[in-house]
Amino acid sequence: MSRITAAITAIGGYVPKDVLTNQDLEKMVDTSDEWITTRTGIKERHILKEPGKASSDIAVEAVKELLDKRGISAKEIELVIFATVTGDLIFPASANILCDKIGATNAWGFDLGAACSGFLYALQTGAQFIQAGTHSKVLVVGVDKMSAIIDYQDRNTCIIFGDGGGAVLLEPNYEGLGIQDAILKSDGSGREFLFQKSGGSLRPPTIETVTNREHFVYQEGKTVFKFAVTNMADVSKRIMEQNNLRSEDVNWLLAHQANKRIIDYTAETMGLPSEKVLMNIQRYGNTTSGTIPLLFKDFEKKFKKGDNLILATFGGGFTWGSIYLKWAYDCA
Ligand code: UT7
Repeated sequence: MSRITAAITAIGGYVPKDVLTNQDLEKMVDTSDEWITTRTGIKERHILKEPGKASSDIAVEAVKELLDKRGISAKEIELVIFATVTGDLIFPASANILCDKIGATNAWGFDLGAACSGFLYALQTGAQFIQAGTHSKVLVVGVDKMSAIIDYQDRNTCIIFGDGGGAVLLEPNYEGLGIQDAILKSDGSGREFLFQKSGGSLRPPTIETVTNREHFVYQEGKTVFKFAVTNMADVSKRIMEQNNLRSEDVNWLLAHQANKRIIDYTAETMGLPSEKVLMNIQRYGNTTSGTIPLLFKDFEKKFKKGDNLILATFGGGFTWGSIYLKWAYDCA
């Protein structure tokens, strides 16, 4: 029997209906549409405003679309890996909640936290179960409701983040398509440049932590920017080199949507023209675990069977990485 590879066979994505524009933010903090656009490329982001709705509800919508496209029932899903930093609850895992909401009664699952690289980590983890031959339908979810942990008085962070995400289905492939290679990295010494100070076991919630606004995202933007630019570009170039891919062999770059300038630099380092660089940062901002699945959703129709895709991310932790995959189907 030929080697089993893990291929994406269906995609779903979702962003909440409410939109927060740069003009809206101008009324909330000392910023401008011009500053946000030139420094980040973002024009608007979507926010989940409905009371009682959480990350799992975004995932439900994405998974419904995916199941519908693939024409299967949730009962056929065997494993759910849910990448997020904004799980519905500290515990149990949002994977459990999602399985209950969609009726995936035969699946087991867990959450995976690697900030903006969460989806890539989850994809590579899910691929192992397919390649091992133990699972044949693995759902990989990347969703964040960042508005739950964003301080809308802090112009350093509130202009960047939005809510949304998506899911992909991994299934075995016997034609050598799907995930080919991954380079995943982490460096915990960067943890204090982008993090949520309180709420975990180090600093559990107190009146003081709430008063000091420590349950929101804290970011030293400039430092993170420097690490992101060099590491995301470096890892993307390395994955090309170790798979003997020249720039002309790469069909599409799907890079984490945190800042257009970081994406542009990564593409330049890889020698890719702008037509091959997929971008939707202007509409969604940075949805953390959600950016790569939202790129899949928005640009799926462009992909042809056999296309070479490079995925690249950088995020809090620090975490970063790149995955090389061969697209497995033509879109109708
Ligand atoms: O997704 C996970 C990884 N995260 C990232 O990759 C994000 C990486 N960082 C960034 O994208 C950028 O650093 C930011 C977009 C967060 C900030 O852009 P920057 O070009 O690095 O700006 P800066 O922090 O160096 O600030 C430049 C100036 C400062 O003013 P002075 O000191 O030059 O007078 C800031 O106070 O811009 C000011 N500033 C703003 N002005 C208007 C900072 N934020 C804003 C704002 N509106 N929202």
